[in-house]
Amino acid sequence: MAKMPDSVLSCSDVNNDPLPDSVLKYAFRQLLGNNGYVQIVNVPDSFDHVAFLKELGDFQPTPTGTVIGDLKPESDMDDVYHAQNRRPLVPHTEGYEFRGTPPRYMALWCVKPASGLGGETTMLDGNRILREFTEEEKQHFLDTTYEWKSTEGLARRGVQHHAEHPVLEEVDGELVFRFSYNNLVVPEGDELARRLVERGKEIYDEGHVAVQYEERDMIVWSNWRMLHSRNAFDDPSRHLKRVQIAAPISA
Ligand SMILES: [Fe+2]
Repeated sequence: MAKMPDSVLSCSDVNNDPLPDSVLKYAFRQLLGNNGYVQIVNVPDSFDHVAFLKELGDFQPTPTGTVIGDLKPESDMDDVYHAQNRRPLVPHTEGYEFRGTPPRYMALWCVKPASGLGGETTMLDGNRILREFTEEEKQHFLDTTYEWKSTEGLARRGVQHHAEHPVLEEVDGELVFRFSYNNLVVPEGDELARRLVERGKEIYDEGHVAVQYEERDMIVWSNWRMLHSRNAFDDPSRHLKRVQIAAPISA
């Protein structure tokens, strides 16, 4: 059962006065660090999403070369697994199919919420999955390279990635967790990897939060820690913007 987000930041205080910029930014950093994600609500018309996100780092283009992406259903994509349609997705971290380090942060903001049911972004702290594994098993995920494929939808747009990465990786002293329920290729007989994807999905289904959007609301999360997904929806005019924020270039 989906829970309400527990890391919510309002742009206005109890008297409906806007929070000072410095207070908003400080609270945002605290929540992001503690909980791995922040849902920003009561966002005023004047809020500049792009300028706010640029303080987190450089934007990283998507596989199709877009820097500030539009997430809108594409009518020819309803029959495949793809972000640009109205079907549900399954839990994943972003960029598992890229070569190199996945985006450090992800952000989505709402141009037009879906009317009617569905369309929530869902999210779970990956640590809730990893704590089911022993130190020895986690070491296996640091040491073992797996194959990751890209989605059918991207393949139809001419983008096909194949990458090889471990599930866990240390980058600049931080742990990067890659996960995909459907695109991590589980080798024949690898019971540990099988358990990771199956238990990962179960824990996700039981424990995720579901973010419902109002206009201009934004969700920002650590893509090295959080898994995300999406519920199905009907409204073809639902419109979100998406930005990926790159890992800092290490010295
Ligand atoms: Fe995604």
